[in-house]
Amino acid sequence: MYIGIDAGTSGIKAVLVDEAQAVLAKRTVGLSSRSPHPGWSEQDPADWWGALLDAVDGLRAEQPAAVAAVRGIGLSGQQHGAVLLDAAGQVLRPCILWNDVRSSAECEVFEQRFPDSRSVCGNIAMPGFTAPKLIWVARHEPEIFDAVRHVLLPKAWLRYRLSGEMIEDMSDASGTLWQDVGRRRWSDDALAATGLTRAAMPALCEGTAQAGRLTRALAARWGMAVPPILAGGAGDNAAGAVGLGAVREGDAFVSLGTSGVVWATTERFRPRPESAIHAFCHAVPEMWHQMGVTLSAASCLAWWAEVAGRDEAALLAELPERVTAPSGVLFLPYLSGERTPHNDAAIRGAFVGLDRASTRADMTQAVLEGVAFSFRDALDGLASAGSVLRQADVIGGGARSAAWVSILASVMDIPLHRLAHGEQGGAFGAARLARLAATGERIADICLPPERIATVAPDAALREAYGPVLARYRALYPALSGLSP
Ligand code: XUL
Repeated sequence: MYIGIDAGTSGIKAVLVDEAQAVLAKRTVGLSSRSPHPGWSEQDPADWWGALLDAVDGLRAEQPAAVAAVRGIGLSGQQHGAVLLDAAGQVLRPCILWNDVRSSAECEVFEQRFPDSRSVCGNIAMPGFTAPKLIWVARHEPEIFDAVRHVLLPKAWLRYRLSGEMIEDMSDASGTLWQDVGRRRWSDDALAATGLTRAAMPALCEGTAQAGRLTRALAARWGMAVPPILAGGAGDNAAGAVGLGAVREGDAFVSLGTSGVVWATTERFRPRPESAIHAFCHAVPEMWHQMGVTLSAASCLAWWAEVAGRDEAALLAELPERVTAPSGVLFLPYLSGERTPHNDAAIRGAFVGLDRASTRADMTQAVLEGVAFSFRDALDGLASAGSVLRQADVIGGGARSAAWVSILASVMDIPLHRLAHGEQGGAFGAARLARLAATGERIADICLPPERIATVAPDAALREAYGPVLARYRALYPALSGLSP
């Protein structure tokens, strides 16, 4: 038995997985984020901890015998967030999250101080990443910066609470900008550019390695006679990839989650920072990946539902069964800035081309289309980085919408595979990493692809129709850049 825990932005999800890789129980405990200023996004680590305990307590209540037999726990987590700890291991301030864009100016400072950062760290310094956040804290909250002794990513902090050990896996560490991604180790130069040293960093390990053991007190709480090992685990996207079996060169998926990701597994470190593509370590040894990230994907539909005063399902139900023509309205999905392809924290979203005849359904479809266009930008960015995708699996909450997947397939012009349990995400991959760490089994034997329930091919007429719309969408960014209030 294995437990996978995904520390997501909107909730902590725990799954209990048996030896046949069947999910016996799952629990999600919701979380909210705070935005005390425009562009800020924070959460209290204590809330994650409470939610994690509730989630695993819930698994135990449902399956006490199976939870008692758990051999390994795997962690997956939202990437990039900075949990700052003092010398006593106490949290110094709320965690600054991956979608917080306050540290744009500090990105420039980081790159000036460490001119080789793009080639060593594989990425443009973006405000979502961890290193610029620490420069921001040093500039704006110097007394907190002075007290910082350890910096942990969200799931490493949860591991610290679960096991007392400070350890991070390679894939999540790649999102800090403190890692030499090609060599899979911390970069002293990158750390120095933020006024830190390795002493502030957790030990590094592969996602499939053993990384700590559950404390006796927690094992007793969950009825486990032998405290299970913890696996290194993975950043949420890499954990999702492990769950999909995307562990070989060329494996690809598209994630329509809160944020959007177009992912390609690579057998080498292939950075291409100029296209704003991320190049990170994978969670399995000697593998890497590239990904394009859209900061607001399914969250655009959630935002639009709130504004429109309808729930998402009701809005989607207003669309035709099969979308056959573009909506006629353009939507830019940059609600909290954008990473790929623009790396622009200041740009914001827009509806363009509204007409007296435009309906709520047109605007809903425009939201789905705008997100699809941003995925197309990520796909083209990956191609320029050497990963030409010919097909991909589609996962995440948004993949439940048939209309959205068909729009996406036509805009991206590749077939997309819908999966049984495609919303399972990082927690299931984390449970696989727990098993690999506990048993030492072969990655290829455990990381099998899930069942594909349908393949959605591009619709030729729709693809043609979207061609000029994509061109207009792309013309909007330079036109609107600098105009956001
Ligand atoms: C990846 C990223 C997001 C978060 C979401 O670079 O910032 O996908 O990991 O949890």
